[in-house]
Amino acid sequence: MAATLNTPDENVWGTLFGEGSSDLLTEINSSVRFDYRLIEEDIEGSIAHVSMLGHVGALPAQDMAEILAGLRVLQAQARAGELTLDPSLEDVHMNVEHCLRQLIGPVAGRLHTARSRNDQVALDAKMWVRRAEARLDRHLALLIDVISTRAVEFAEVAMPGFTHLQAAQPVSFGHHLLAYVEMFLRDRDRIRSAHTRADESPLGAAALAGTSHPIDPFFTARALGFSSPMRNSMDAVSDRDFMLDLLAIGSILATHISRLGEELVLWSTAQFGYVQLPAELAAGSSIMPQKRNPDVAELIRGKSGRVIGNLVALLTVLKGLPLSYSRDLQEDKEALFDTFDTLDVSLRSAIALMSGLTVDTARMAADATVGNTLATDVADWLVVRHGLPFREAHLSVAQLVRSLGERGQQLHGADPAWIRAFAPVFKDLPDEVLTLQHSLASRTSPGGTAPASVRAAAAAARVRNHSRSPLPGPPDEGPDTKETDQ
Ligand code: ARG
Repeated sequence: MAATLNTPDENVWGTLFGEGSSDLLTEINSSVRFDYRLIEEDIEGSIAHVSMLGHVGALPAQDMAEILAGLRVLQAQARAGELTLDPSLEDVHMNVEHCLRQLIGPVAGRLHTARSRNDQVALDAKMWVRRAEARLDRHLALLIDVISTRAVEFAEVAMPGFTHLQAAQPVSFGHHLLAYVEMFLRDRDRIRSAHTRADESPLGAAALAGTSHPIDPFFTARALGFSSPMRNSMDAVSDRDFMLDLLAIGSILATHISRLGEELVLWSTAQFGYVQLPAELAAGSSIMPQKRNPDVAELIRGKSGRVIGNLVALLTVLKGLPLSYSRDLQEDKEALFDTFDTLDVSLRSAIALMSGLTVDTARMAADATVGNTLATDVADWLVVRHGLPFREAHLSVAQLVRSLGERGQQLHGADPAWIRAFAPVFKDLPDEVLTLQHSLASRTSPGGTAPASVRAAAAAARVRNHSRSPLPGPPDEGPDTKETDQ
């Protein structure tokens, strides 16, 4: 969809009140510069509404046919980006009605029978949100597939696992990646539950109280892909929970993406040197010739700030707002559109980063033992081999590690014979316990990092991902994502 804006020429309420309103009113009142993005949903909603009016006999068949024909023309024009919108006509809804009148004459005035902009805007926004959710969900499904595939590739690759950002125990790099898969699968579940809650159509509430016309809101609900109409007309026009849901879920999702971005930034430093970001996604520095900056990873980290801000902004608008509709609710849309746009580009960036990432597996593995990360393996061996209480085993290994440290050494790389001679409990310690391979392979507890478990978990994650069927939405496109010339 695309829409263009005219320069202000006519004021919609000026004619009603018999005098021109001030430019200031237009400036603060007009939402066209952002709500033009609802135009397709607005026209679809009107098509359903006028069909319903004809169906129940609230509108003569001839009028219905003329209005429908006009709306279909506008629909094609909107899709082709050929509709010109006028900011002085307040919002997208007034603009569509105005264009319809230009096209088919005064019969256009019958479209708004039994409807208010209050239920109309709630409907348009809800339809837009559902499509946005479907689109984000498709991106998430792809991201999960990409990461699970790479997790299999790196199932055997050891890296240091961190707690407190201190080297803790070796883990499989594939295992580390699958932690993100779990987060993104939960994000898909959250989107689904929000989608289910947003399954009631607000249309039919009219301004706030319902209407005396013999409408059939079940007809419009079904025509527009909802399972039923909302049950309370005052809730219908004032509810924005469906938006809060998307902004809240989006904030959690953005937080996940941000953590991934941060790890990519860290891992791609010269100091870590674990990964190289895809060359086409790295930016240079204007002064330092050697630099390859991880801008895309930094941006997916940083953009989470705005997404979280948008949630707080809408919560703040809604907090304390009396029932039912107040114009404050117009302030919902910029936060919504910005959150969607930000998540859309962040997810596509995460997909590109994760599919194009090159990994220095030797460097990772070499780092995996730095910081005595095999200490727990030795303590566990003492428990199993010599029946030591874990606390005693812990103490013995701590003494061993301290003595090695005094000699400038670490567990890995030290002479195993020296370790065996250090104390009687260590005398039969096999060399194998001091290897990465043993360490990883031994962690076979459910959800653990053993490479065989990681491969199985990655395969299971793909199955879980695909068992969540795509959400209903336009087949290839979600809501409009393009800015238009205004
Ligand atoms: N542009 C308005 C909004 O976004 C549409 C509803 C206006 N309703 C009204 N009674 N002024 O909320």
